[in-house]
Amino acid sequence: MRITPQSIEEVREAAQIAEVASEFTALRRVGARFSGLCPYPDHNEKTPSFSVSPDKSFYYCFGCSRGGDAIKLVMELKSFSFAEAVSHLAERFGVELRFEGRSPEEERAAEKRNARRRSAYKALAAATAYYHKYLLKSPAAEEARGYLKERGFSRSTIEEFRLGYAPPRGRPGFIQAARGVGLGREALEAAGLLSSRGGERFGDRVTFPISDRRGRIVGFGARSLGDAKPKYLNSPETELFNKRSLLYGFPQIAEAMRREKAALVVEGYTDVLMLYQSGIKNAVATLGTAMTEQHLKTLSGHAEKIYLLFDPDTAGEKAVQKVDDTAELTFVAARLSAFLYVVRLPEDPADWLLNHSGDEFVKLLDSAVSIVEYTIRSLAEEARGRDAAIRYRVMPRILEYVQRLIINEPTLEQEARRLAEDALQVSPARLDGLLSSYKASTHGDRQKAEIPTTQNSSRQLVSNSRRNEGREDPLVEAGRELLALVLARPDLASSALRSGIEAPDVFDAPVILTPDDFGDKAEGRIFALLADRAGEDLGTILSDERARVLLDEISAIRADGERLYPSEASLRAAWFRFASLSRERAKLLTEDFDEKYRLHLEIKRLRQAAVEASNLTLES
Ligand code: GTP
Ligand code: MN
Repeated sequence: MRITPQSIEEVREAAQIAEVASEFTALRRVGARFSGLCPYPDHNEKTPSFSVSPDKSFYYCFGCSRGGDAIKLVMELKSFSFAEAVSHLAERFGVELRFEGRSPEEERAAEKRNARRRSAYKALAAATAYYHKYLLKSPAAEEARGYLKERGFSRSTIEEFRLGYAPPRGRPGFIQAARGVGLGREALEAAGLLSSRGGERFGDRVTFPISDRRGRIVGFGARSLGDAKPKYLNSPETELFNKRSLLYGFPQIAEAMRREKAALVVEGYTDVLMLYQSGIKNAVATLGTAMTEQHLKTLSGHAEKIYLLFDPDTAGEKAVQKVDDTAELTFVAARLSAFLYVVRLPEDPADWLLNHSGDEFVKLLDSAVSIVEYTIRSLAEEARGRDAAIRYRVMPRILEYVQRLIINEPTLEQEARRLAEDALQVSPARLDGLLSSYKASTHGDRQKAEIPTTQNSSRQLVSNSRRNEGREDPLVEAGRELLALVLARPDLASSALRSGIEAPDVFDAPVILTPDDFGDKAEGRIFALLADRAGEDLGTILSDERARVLLDEISAIRADGERLYPSEASLRAAWFRFASLSRERAKLLTEDFDEKYRLHLEIKRLRQAAVEASNLTLES
């Protein structure tokens, strides 16, 4: 399908040539244009002859005489085809592409989507203005104003970042105001401004508007004034609001980031604001999630050095997971030629800055270490002073990380080896030995599956370690009990295995379980087998190829199950109890606060369902 000429024109207009070019070379403003070293790889120069003029959407190099528009620049420097370059820029600058030869229905659907997006943008802009004015003017916002003052935010910060306050429930709010300017419920819905009950989503909260890179407001983070939970409520994921790619503060800080060629990434909205207020104007925050590849891509287009600033560390599994996520970023950063550093802070920046100056904060950055050093050291620290089981689990992760660096990023090999020798307290020769036996051990398929290479890895690691800890883990116990019930009466469980169990009082949809929910790998495999063969009798199930390696586990579980009294009610109770425990684990492991909150509500309901089911067991 061909992109229409109109769309191509739209992309040409929307693409900010200076932003595009600064992905490839550092630009300095000179009057109405920008200038920098020529980014064409075959043109090595020491004095800048590359010039970009945003008004004309054009670049030109006086040294090598190459010039063109943003599309051409992307094609030549990223080796993209014309269509690839156009789609890349369209996505980056929010242009909805149209294609020749679309059917009329497709065309209509696309138009409808565009119209919906436009009205959502409009609603978000209007809500921002409304909440902002309400904060500054309304007598009902007295407490909110006091709160922000007490947190140390100046009036100019509040204005620059357009902070607001959404009227408490029971008062006329934005929904009414929106009607007055012709914005209907549909627009508010698409903008993510409504609660699940259809009321004002952010009522009685301080609102932090969140913009995309082009400066259009796409959603909000909203903080409760007191201890009401959740502390922050974000916009729901919408067509416009995607937490994994957005960064709080982006448009305000873009210029300083480009000037300094460095970006700080902090954890909280309030941290961005306080840093800004203290003169550090190149900090952004993720929206309650870990840093993603998309975030890194965005930032590396503007900054060479990226500092991840971590709040004082959280203990336990969460910290371990953080290292996993962070390690993953090493490879992305290297691909993007960004230098990624990590700083562990003594305190949240927002709190710290109440008693310290911006200059003092900058000194904290002296303790930054490269991502490679951070990862290896954190893994090693994780093991220090712990029992053998934990050391056992950490060592392969260090080896795996080093191995991946050697393969993917040879430039980092020396540093990685040195750090690993240090962390594992071994000689270079011994490290070589460990690496080659590690390599050998990952050649078999079975082991490979146990070795983390992806984001999901921490999950697997946790389940492995759980197995070592034996039967004390309630999730493993509950999984075992559930499987015992199913194995005792496959007939009772067949519909549950196929399509979950309904709890009409608490959930709209049936509660479904998957093998990943289990805290123990063998349990997960047994469940997968049982679910695939739902409705069949035990004999047939056990004749399945996959059952062979699981037979020992299965018979142990069946032996356990002999003291159980399987019934529909006891299966329900075990099912919901297990589900609630597995969601507990997911809640503990996720870094995403919105997900945490969603799981929190789900767990509450699952517990209720489990209690109801076991009351029935007692009655029957
Ligand atoms: P203050 O307590 O107001 O200083 O906020 P903070 O930004 O310092 O919060 P904290 O350090 O607790 O959390 C850092 C970031 O995680 C916040 O800015 C939010 O993005 C996110 N976060 C924290 N708590 C919640 C929550 O309950 N829900 C959601 N969705 N996000 C949260
Ligand atoms: Mn914080």
